[in-house]
Order: sequence, then structure tokens, then C-alpha cells
Amino acid sequence: MLRRERLEIKTPDQIRLMRASGLVTAAALAAVREAVVPGAVAGDIDHLAETVIRDHGAEPNFLGYAGYPASICLSINDVVVHGIPKRQVIHEGDIVSIDCGAVLHGWHSDAAITIPVGDVNARSDCLVEVTRVSLWDGIAAYARAQHLNEVGAAVEASVLAGEPSFGVLQDYIGHGIGTEMHMDPEVPNYAVRDRGPKVRPGLVVAIEPMVVEGRIATVTESDGWTVRTVDGRWAAHWEHTVARTDDGVWVLTAEDGGAGELAARGVTIAPLE
Ligand code: MF3
Ligand code: CO
Repeated sequence: MLRRERLEIKTPDQIRLMRASGLVTAAALAAVREAVVPGAVAGDIDHLAETVIRDHGAEPNFLGYAGYPASICLSINDVVVHGIPKRQVIHEGDIVSIDCGAVLHGWHSDAAITIPVGDVNARSDCLVEVTRVSLWDGIAAYARAQHLNEVGAAVEASVLAGEPSFGVLQDYIGHGIGTEMHMDPEVPNYAVRDRGPKVRPGLVVAIEPMVVEGRIATVTESDGWTVRTVDGRWAAHWEHTVARTDDGVWVLTAEDGGAGELAARGVTIAPLE
């Protein structure tokens, strides 16, 4: 079915405001990355993220979203996404996904990283890296895409080239972002049949591959949030908020705007600075 979506197209000034929001999210993730060590308690990491966000004059956009009770999602091992940080203790060998977002002057940003804690088994280490690389391959595709669903095709191809036995989750997808955290368009992280909406300057999306070692089936726990793999195998999640500009892309939640990773893929970033 053809559906013409009403997409929020941002002006250059609005993208600059979203960049300021994105840098707050980047700062919060940089802080928590250092704090994810053996013995750390999830709730403390949540408080750290919230403090960094508020110290920058922003607010955590996850807190209170559909009743969500924390400022970050913290998802350990077989938890794919939306783990609620409470009293979980982090151990050596875990992989910990942190999803974080901020709203500043009404503009949202959203990003996620997965952190291997100390010595992690080789397969899980590979899972984290393959997922991270697939995000950047997806962002590079977005820089050149005519239609949005070229992104998901690139992400999926990247994952399967990295490790054919891994699976790309289909239960959760990326999204448009701007004056709300979740907006049209949908951004699948896998190849789909239709082309998706035309990509144009001013479109800002959150690209967020979730990749699993085993089957892609998930189950949501009775807390209404925590999403686990059904087979108990592990998952990784990486996400950036990315603006399409006149000349390419600007990765709003990456400190360097994406310059480093994208240069390696032959893409020059097009910041509005
Ligand atoms: N950041 C998540 C996403 O990427 C959304 C988290 S929902 C919340 O779409 F309620 F936990 F905030
Ligand atoms: Co998101």
C-alpha cells in the first residue's frame, strides 16, 4: 500500500538545535561508558546519565515516556532493549547496551552503544562490533540514499557479511526524530520490499540496528518493558540520530559528527557549522 507520510523536514537552524541536543546525549553516553565496569549498579549509571543531561540544561526524554521510569535503558546480555536500570550488577564478560536520549529547547536526540565489559567471549565481542559497523554502514547508505529503505538493506547486508549466522531484529525499528522522540518515518534495519519515502535534506532519523547471535524472536517481560531474546542468546544495539543535509549527512549524536567512521567509507560529512 502506498502511504504518503507527513514527514517533519527541518530547517538548517533546526538541525543546528538538534545538534546541540545530540551533543548532550553524546556527553551522557561518554560518561556512562566509563562507568560501565564490573561491580557497577545499573541504577547508579542511570543517575549519572540523568545528571550529565541536566547539567547541560537538557532533560532526559526517556523519563516518563509512555510511563518509562528511568533516563536510560540498560540492557544486559540476552536483554535486547528497554531494560530498566535498577539494582542489576554488571559483571566482567557482560555486554551492556545503553540507550539514552535528551530533549533540549524542544529538540530530541537518541543514541545507543553496546559496551563489552572487560574480557568478553569472542563471539559476543564480534556481535558488538558487527552491530556497530552495521550502524555506520547504514549511516553511509543514508548519506547517498534516494529512498529511505536503502538504509535497512545496507544494515542487513553489513551484518550478514560480518557474520552470516547473526540475525537482525524485526520487532523493533528506527524512527524519525525531531520535535518528538518517535515520529514518522519508520526506519527498518533490514531489507524490505518497498522503497520507503524519498530521502531529502532536512530529514532526521534514528538508525538503530539490534542484532542477535541466535533467533530474532523476542519476548517482553511482565514489567512491560524488558525485551529478551526467546532463545536466551545475546544481543547488541547501536544507534545514532542522523540528519540529512544538502550535501550529505551529519551524525548529530557523534562527537565528531561522524567524520571518522564515514571517511573510512568514502563519505564526507556535511555539517552545518
Ligand atoms: N530510545 C528508544 C528508541 O530508540 C526508545 C526508548 S523508549 C523509553 O526508540 F521509553 F524507554 F524511553
Ligand atoms: Co531510537
